[in-house]
Parts: sequence; C-alpha cells; structure tokens
Amino acid sequence: MKRRIFLKKATVSGLSIVAVNSLLSCDTSTNVSTSIIASESKAIKPIVIATWRVPNATAKAWEVLQNNGSSLDAVEQGCRVEEAAVANQSVGKGGLPDRDGNVTLDACIMNKEGDYGAVMAVQNITHVISLARKVMEKTPHVILSGKGAEKFAYEQGFEKENLLTESAKKAWEVWKKTAQYKPIINIENHDTIGMLAIDKKGDIAGGCTTSGLSYKMAGRVGDSAIIGSGLFIDNEVGGATATGMGEEVLKTVGSFLIVELMRQGKTPQEACEEAVQRVIKNAGDRYKDFQVGFIALNKAGEIGSYCIHEWFNYQVHTAKENKNYKSDYYNKA
Ligand code: GLY
Repeated sequence: MKRRIFLKKATVSGLSIVAVNSLLSCDTSTNVSTSIIASESKAIKPIVIATWRVPNATAKAWEVLQNNGSSLDAVEQGCRVEEAAVANQSVGKGGLPDRDGNVTLDACIMNKEGDYGAVMAVQNITHVISLARKVMEKTPHVILSGKGAEKFAYEQGFEKENLLTESAKKAWEVWKKTAQYKPIINIENHDTIGMLAIDKKGDIAGGCTTSGLSYKMAGRVGDSAIIGSGLFIDNEVGGATATGMGEEVLKTVGSFLIVELMRQGKTPQEACEEAVQRVIKNAGDRYKDFQVGFIALNKAGEIGSYCIHEWFNYQVHTAKENKNYKSDYYNKA
C-alpha cells in the first residue's frame, strides 16, 4: 500500500491550521483510494462528506447544493437515499432488527443555528432523518422516542411501512439459532450513515441515521440520535459524525470532542485521531473487538477521518468528483 502524507501550514479564516495533504494512490484490488485525506487542496467548498461507500447519497446531497439548496436540505435528502435503500442492512428500511425481530431506527439532524432534532427507537417509519427534522422545526422538544415519535410521524403525514424485509428477517432467523450477541466490525463495510455538508453560503449542517446494532436488546439506543456523540455541528467551527459501536462513542461524546478540538486549532484529521485515541484509552483492550470511525469537516472545507480498525471508508463529493476514500486507522498491528 503506497501512501505519502505531506504536512503544510495554512491560514484559514484567521486561524493557523495544519493542513494535511496527500498524494492519492489507488488500491486496484478494492478500488478504494488509499489516501487518508481526500482534499488535494487545503480547503474545498461546497462539499459533502459521508461515512461509508454511499455515492448515491452524496450525489443527491450535492444535487441539492448545486440547486442553491441549504446544507440542511442536502444532508436530509442525502440520508433519505440510504434510508430507502433496502439492500443497506444498517440504515432505514431493510435494516437488521433487534433480538425480538423489530426494526427500530435512530436519527438526528443539526442546522447552522445549532438547532437539533432527534428520534430514537422508532418503528414503521423509513425516513427518520426527516422525522428528526420535523421534531427540530415543529415541536418545542429536541428528542422524541418510540411510540410518541411514531405517533408524531403519522400526524406529520409520514407513511406506515413494514421495515423488516424478507432478507433481514431471514438473517434474524439464522441469528436466532445461536442468538449470540457479538457485534461485527465493519458490518458489510457499511454501518451508520453520518453526513456533513457545507453549502454555497458556507454554512454547515449534518445528519445521522441508523438501525443501530443488529440484534440489539429491545429499547437499546446508540450514539446516532444523541447530540455530541453521533453528530455535532457548530457553524463557527465545523462538524463531526461517528459510525461504529455507539456505546463507546457515547462514553467519549466523540463528535462534540472533535468539534471542540477543531475550535482549539486542530485540523479535522488531528481531531479525529485524538477522538479515536480517547475511545481506545477508555476501552483498554476491549478496543480490539469493536469499530469506531469518525469523519470531520471544518468551516474552511478541510476534512478528516480516522477509525480503530482497517476498512472504514468515507465518501466525498466536491465539484471535482464523488469519490470513496479509505480511512487511516489505529490498529496496524
Ligand atoms: N453507531 C450506531 C449505533 O451504535 O447505534
């Protein structure tokens, strides 16, 4: 694997920031770039960045930005693409169920004003990212859960749908034979979708949506709906979002930590690396058994990504391309 990393100083918006550039090289066996940083220049705007290989989702978000849409509309529309994709077994319709066979979804969204809306443990509604936005914009609250969130969805005109597809049901029936609860690192190379975008006005928004850990206990909620853990946006600084083992992200409030580190002058890459180190420090030897990955975007349009184990990847859409990149990672032993 070829990889060269260059460090150079850049001044962005009055802040002294170490910008990390890299030469891109291509691993032809996987068709995934081995670059740890997607930006060949120090800052790119507008931009959409998302966890995992989700080219259709970032393309949709980009289309919104190109039509002068806001970053909030872009992340909502982008996340909806994966929620509707039944082949994706970790987000939206088609997601793997909990131990009782129920698909329950978590999502949250944040806008440039720092407003937040979230739903958790929601059944029968595919587009929970849009439901989270409704919570943010139409209620005096920031989180609705379970039956209350579902009732609110119907009041807002959302359709009731069966989220358990035949293939997810079959997978659950196979799992039930042993009923061993052992989270899989990089499940199908695809997990929670976290998306960050900067629009043409330079404003940042983010969204995060997931069916959570497959075969989780009924009622379990991970990081994806929790402000500061699965997602955090500060339009003065930047945004971050997480994927992987929600319990571990929650314990470090990882996305908030990354944004605060960027506020102190760290690059998105440095901030993601420090957040992963924090997760590992908290977990001790347990880190070998789970994956956590972060992506981050600062106000200047620089991005960063880091994870514990190999094969977390992320999608970046700029005016130049819609490309998947392999994240750098900690566990190289
Ligand atoms: N990161 C998704 C979850 O743990 O639910």
